[in-house]
Amino acid sequence: MSYSIIGSGGVGVALAGQFVRSGITVGIANRRGPDSITSIAKKLGDKVVPLSLQDALKADVIILAIPFWSHRDVAKALPTWQGKVVIDVTNAYGVPLSDLDNQLSSAIVAKALPGAHLVKAFNHLPAGVLAQDPAIAGGHRVIFVSGDDESAVATVTALVRRLGYAPVSLGTLAQGGQLVQARDKSWAPLIFQDLFKREA
Ligand SMILES: NC(=O)c1ccc[n+]([C@@H]2O[C@H](COP(=O)([O-])OP(=O)(O)OC[C@H]3O[C@@H](n4cnc5c(N)ncnc54)[C@H](OP(=O)(O)O)[C@@H]3O)[C@@H](O)[C@H]2O)c1
Repeated sequence: MSYSIIGSGGVGVALAGQFVRSGITVGIANRRGPDSITSIAKKLGDKVVPLSLQDALKADVIILAIPFWSHRDVAKALPTWQGKVVIDVTNAYGVPLSDLDNQLSSAIVAKALPGAHLVKAFNHLPAGVLAQDPAIAGGHRVIFVSGDDESAVATVTALVRRLGYAPVSLGTLAQGGQLVQARDKSWAPLIFQDLFKREA
């Protein structure tokens, strides 16, 4: 299974750090190209591989750590999304519901990536918290996971666990969306809830 992170900002770097901590190789890409990520990757360790967007999109599991509307540009960069597992970390905070046809933001992203299996995860915590060691005080920091495809959810759940977090399923995108997605200028109830489980 190969992994890549699109976005080398706060969230992308935080998650890349967790891959390093867990000894899992991950590609990372942004808009400006791999040279702009070299120094970050060097700091994080050799498990982080700076890539072009095109190369990063070859991974089996792609983590979208980009501003919400940027998903439209990334969507265009692959001729087909068939079979890709995409982890949507975006938050459409402040996006008027009318711009989303009153749908959940994950539904908009899923629609833009036909054939991909979208799973929502890692979006409920600030980047600074995501960067911290997820194992503390004998417990593991909770990451909420929601998605419509059972196999993709299982893949992401296994990754979340390998990264040292405790995955907690919120059901489908529609179910989980009510709990962890931003709606216009309000945050869903589980956003910012920094929870721990004794057993992952
Ligand atoms: N910050 C948080 O605490 C936090 C927590 C949870 C979720 N989120 C959500 O996570 C997402 C990322 O947040 P962030 O704070 O990490 O953002 P950020 O610091 O602004 O970084 C965004 C990254 O996305 C890249 N990017 C933008 N458009 C792209 C495109 N078309 N193709 C490839 N790369 C593109 C940028 O590339 P360049 O560097 O080349 O410009 C940049 O590296 C947002 O949707 C945010 O709402 C944020």
